[in-house]
Parts: sequence; structure tokens; C-alpha cells
Amino acid sequence: MRIAFTVNGRLHELDIDPGEYLLEVLRRIGYKSVRRSCNSASCGTCTVLLNGKPILSCSTFAVSVDGQNIETVEGMADGDKLHPIQEAILEEGGAQCGYCIPGVVMTGEALLRENPDPSDEEIRLALNGNICRCTGYEPQNRAIKKAAQVMRGEIDE
Ligand code: FES
Ligand code: FES
Repeated sequence: MRIAFTVNGRLHELDIDPGEYLLEVLRRIGYKSVRRSCNSASCGTCTVLLNGKPILSCSTFAVSVDGQNIETVEGMADGDKLHPIQEAILEEGGAQCGYCIPGVVMTGEALLRENPDPSDEEIRLALNGNICRCTGYEPQNRAIKKAAQVMRGEIDE
């Protein structure tokens, strides 16, 4: 069947299998930041935004995004300039193996769009579905806090 949807503002029209998951389709059309880990809706690694809200692409049928808007990490940087969340994750030591990072960035972005000044607890709650085997989470929590300050114009990057 044929579907059409935008990814990071770019329209894609393509044929899919009705049983295909969004994760497979996104990787097939070149969005390799979208990663498969548990493949069972448990780890958050495959998180992308659907109309601005985080979803797990490993358990979302591609057909359900027909006509919708998807965002991935590929759309976050501004040319060579990293998004403040990406920058802060690097600065705070929140990326080690890096496998979880695309999902963390997208979850963090959705949080900050909805709540530009989250408390530590709100950050922890937002990220609690994004499993990380390397960092112990605190560097990533700190990074979201710092990115929020940068995005509010309170501190420089
Ligand atoms: S790969 Fe989708 S939640 Fe783990
Ligand atoms: S940095 Fe390795 S899983 Fe998060």
C-alpha cells in the first residue's frame, strides 16, 4: 500500500507492507539515527516524534503515520550547529556508547516544547522510558536541564 508522510519537513511517498513498523520504514528511507534495540516497546531507543509527541517507532505501524509529521534526530541540528540538547549531552558526558542518544534527544525535545522550564523530577519522569546502559542517567538529566536554560536564553551554550 502507498502512504505519504513528512520526515523533518520533507515529504516521502512510498509503498509499504501493511505489517511494517515505522522504525523499519524510516531506516529503509535513510533515517539511520532511528535505532532498534529491544524491538518490544521497552527501551525508548527508537523514539521519534509524531506530530510533536514522542512515540516508539518499533511498535507503531507505518500505515498509522499516513498524512502525519515525523521528526528524527537528523532534523535537529541547524547545519553544522548542534541542537542545544545535543550540545548539552556532549558537554555533560551524557553520551558514551551513544546508542540511546537519538531517543533521549527526541524525548527531551518533546518535553521542552511542552514545558520549557521543567523541574528535575519532571525531567526524570519524561526520560524514564529511555533506557541507557552506560551513563547512570544523571548526565543526561543534567543535559536536559542545561539545554532548557540555553533555550530560554539564560545561559550561553
Ligand atoms: S527498540 Fe523500540 S522501545 Fe526498544
Ligand atoms: S550512552 Fe550507551 S546506552 Fe546510553
